[in-house]
Amino acid sequence: SIIKHGHTKKILETIDQIQSGFRLLSEMGCKGFDCSKQSMDIVSRWGRIGADLPESLAEIRKDLGDCQRCRLSRHRQNIVFGTGNPQASLVFIGEGPGYDEDIQGEPFVGAAGQLLTKIIQAIQQTRARVYISNIVKCRPPNNRNPKTDEIQTCYPFLHRQIQAIHPKFICALGTIAAQSLLQTEQPISALRGKFHNYKGIKVLPTYHPAYLLRNPEKKRAVWKDMKELMTAMGIDFG
Ligand code: URA
Repeated sequence: SIIKHGHTKKILETIDQIQSGFRLLSEMGCKGFDCSKQSMDIVSRWGRIGADLPESLAEIRKDLGDCQRCRLSRHRQNIVFGTGNPQASLVFIGEGPGYDEDIQGEPFVGAAGQLLTKIIQAIQQTRARVYISNIVKCRPPNNRNPKTDEIQTCYPFLHRQIQAIHPKFICALGTIAAQSLLQTEQPISALRGKFHNYKGIKVLPTYHPAYLLRNPEKKRAVWKDMKELMTAMGIDFG
């Protein structure tokens, strides 16, 4: 009687599914349950493998684990996976975590991050509404540029994140993000302000906020790019 009538059908369907799952296990000779982490990982992918359903961000994060796939893992404090809306229509991609991001485990929380937050607000969005991640998920020592092999090792995870989120737009922040996503060696000055294509998603490269902190005269160009983005997104900015 606690269960509202409209929910009864759904609950009975779920019980049916559980029963047929048990029946299948019994027919396969199963006499007990293995709830180890490995088994639970397999079970959590049931019905998705081969069904062409995107993975969830949680599954991708789980697969990344305590990643030791490249040398950047040796010096990091935290993996910086990404933050924001798992269904965002706009994703910002930076280069890699800096000092503050490494400590906090969140992208773009230092000085450049504060500027990015202002840019996000200027285009009438919030950090919670968009998704923010980086090309590499661990801080390169002394904030050096990530090396090609580090980018290549980390890249499949970003690609899977993008597939999972399925955004309409990506804003690539700076040279490394733009060149890695678009597989080009063209300079950011040539790439910025125009829409490019990444597997059907519109990619707008612009200058990195850290570059803007050093070259504030470039803010005008970024604002121009953000107006292009708002127009494409159908945002009325007057
Ligand atoms: N710069 C980046 O490229 N990413 C961050 O997360 C912070 C600074």
